[in-house]
Amino acid sequence: MTREPNRSQSTCSVFSPPLPRLLTPISSRTARAMQILRARPEDAAKLTEIAFTSKRHWGYPERWIASWFHLLTIEPRLIAEQETYTAHVDGAPVGFYSLSGGFGRMRLEHLWVLPEAMRRGVGRSLFVHAVERARAFGCETLEIESDPNAAGFYEHLGARRVATTVTELEGRPRELPVLVYEIARTA
Ligand SMILES: CC(C)(COP(=O)(O)OP(=O)(O)OC[C@H]1O[C@@H](n2cnc3c(N)ncnc32)[C@H](O)[C@@H]1OP(=O)(O)O)[C@@H](O)C(=O)NCCC(=O)NCCS
Repeated sequence: MTREPNRSQSTCSVFSPPLPRLLTPISSRTARAMQILRARPEDAAKLTEIAFTSKRHWGYPERWIASWFHLLTIEPRLIAEQETYTAHVDGAPVGFYSLSGGFGRMRLEHLWVLPEAMRRGVGRSLFVHAVERARAFGCETLEIESDPNAAGFYEHLGARRVATTVTELEGRPRELPVLVYEIARTA
């Protein structure tokens, strides 16, 4: 999910349309409000912590987590250069996403929710926000290379699986679902 962005090859618009701060109900159970705000480079350490904690939720061995150190480490430069938004509940960051552009599509590079905030609509809200950002940039599709455990989430939200990326982990193949969300077809 964290390939280097290649903005020079992107055919998406390069302007950054303004977006109002969103105030979204997080769930009727908590009746708390969630805000999705543009991340700042100084948030990098917090977003890195969220990414590691969220990835560990799937129960992967620590040596696997260590091997993904660079994928899970959010550099201030990534936040400065890519569309990166954080979901806050009661003022505390609980999840974030980041987009990159390339080849006429935008790619979801990160989408992480803290375990204690999962299954309350945070992931959906972040995904919908990401889709709207990609739409505002004139893109028609959003590509996602997913953790296998998260593919059902994206499919549930309307993405369709189009390919599989095969990586190698400890000498064994690891298959990552590649999904596409058709922005143009959604209102
Ligand atoms: C995948 C993830 C982002 C989902 O976030 P979330 O806040 O729990 O999701 P939501 O509560 O908004 O769920 C939205 C819908 O998707 C469903 N859903 C959530 N996770 C799902 C999953 N893993 N598989 C299938 N459906 C899922 C929910 O039931 C909900 O359905 P509903 O609205 O019809 O009731 C979150 O589990 C996560 O961060 N996981 C660990 C990190 C990760 O793998 N991130 C993705 C990297 S590609």
